Amino acid sequence: MKSPMKTKDTPGLDRRRFLQGTAGLAGTALFTGGTLLTSVSSYAQNPPSCPVPPSGGTPFVPGSDKRPVVLRKSIGAFNSAELTKLQDAYTALRNLPAGDNRRWLMQADMHALFCASCTNSPTDIHGSWTFFPWHRAYLYYFERILGSLVKDLDNFRLPYWDWENIRTLPPPYRSPGSAANSLWDGSRNSGLAGGGNLPSTDGTASRITTLYGLSDFATFGGDAFSGGSLEDDPHGIIHVDVGLPFLPQHDMGNLGYAARDPLFFAHHCNIDKLWSGWNDLASGGSGTDYKNPTDSAFLNARWSFWDENQNVVSISAGDVLDHEHNLRYIYKSPEIRFHRFDLILECRFLCCRPGPDPGPFLEVTEQVREMVQRAFRAESPVVLVLRQVSIPAGISGSFDVVAVRGERKTVVGAIGVLDHGHVVHRKTHSITLSLDVTKAAEDLFAKEKPATLHVYRRAVERTKEKRQPEAFVLKAERAEIRLEKR
Ligand code: C2O
Repeated sequence: MKSPMKTKDTPGLDRRRFLQGTAGLAGTALFTGGTLLTSVSSYAQNPPSCPVPPSGGTPFVPGSDKRPVVLRKSIGAFNSAELTKLQDAYTALRNLPAGDNRRWLMQADMHALFCASCTNSPTDIHGSWTFFPWHRAYLYYFERILGSLVKDLDNFRLPYWDWENIRTLPPPYRSPGSAANSLWDGSRNSGLAGGGNLPSTDGTASRITTLYGLSDFATFGGDAFSGGSLEDDPHGIIHVDVGLPFLPQHDMGNLGYAARDPLFFAHHCNIDKLWSGWNDLASGGSGTDYKNPTDSAFLNARWSFWDENQNVVSISAGDVLDHEHNLRYIYKSPEIRFHRFDLILECRFLCCRPGPDPGPFLEVTEQVREMVQRAFRAESPVVLVLRQVSIPAGISGSFDVVAVRGERKTVVGAIGVLDHGHVVHRKTHSITLSLDVTKAAEDLFAKEKPATLHVYRRAVERTKEKRQPEAFVLKAERAEIRLEKR
């Protein structure tokens, strides 16, 4: 359901931020009779201001944080006192003076720095196994800053937006839809900003079920060179649902700006919860299932932040793995039923077959075909894992992965690709795609003329275009099929 109130309003937002603290300046001041005022100067704060990144600093000592262990909750479970505290914390953050290293824009630009959106970016923590631990560390210091601003460092914890349950933007973040609400951001997709639902395919419980069936960290959370399956779907796709990858509604859709939307932190808190819940599936012993990497290159990755006292601190990936003991928060274990895809079958993903539906397709042995068909007939899920799928430079937005065989088209997955703040930093990067292809298994594994797989750009608001032609040709270095052991 769309609200009649349109919030296509963002060009002024950075100006609002620029002038933040000026009493009485609300988003509405930038409208004239409903007409959007756009001027070059309203983009004055774009691109991100790219501050000098903090470096070095006092290393985090595991065990030194002795605050109580407190539950991080869904925003939907916040009572009115908790909501008021959250809003007060964001208001205080937004009102910090220009020179303060904790200030709102500095926090947001820390994210820009760590996604290679700045020419002085130290590194890009996206697209590899640093994705989970860096964001966890970032949320930790951000949460401490907010907590100290409302004098509740001990008990203040961030909420998460569990989009698998809450299918709209959480009401406190969109209503009231003005700068009077410290959780509001004007730079959002107008449909969602007005109360619309997320696309029904995105960030669903069933997607989480699929991801939780992947028991190795590399496929779930990435390795040194490639992002994991969760990073593009649901992480990326939800980003691009909330913010389009272009102006003016782009905050969440662009890594250089994403953390300028308070919703970013609720989104990432949910991502953090999903990582934590995945780890909870590990059983003891020496196996590696559902456990984090033990490579020293992973454990020793270290980043610097500003803490609530504006001191530079550093923390490593290894320091954040045990969030309960080291970072003093827990989540309620998610109640997700899942299948374990323990049976891994090799196949080849070949590009490209000529013919009526030219495109990449799967080549499997007779034996594999039979196993897949048996699983399919038993209504047991079939997952296709494509590794080192390269996303060409300059591509961003939301895409559907579609199996095409003759007239039949079956959507088997989504890819959400965030733009970066600066054009020069757009680059080819590598992702892992885990697609639930159960519904298309008959076509993809057919003996004669199997289905081909295509990536279509979703129709987007700006262009009002129907589904566009192929966005890019899907290529993967490796492919495998995963089934439940039966
Ligand atoms: Cu650092 Cu959701 O991106």
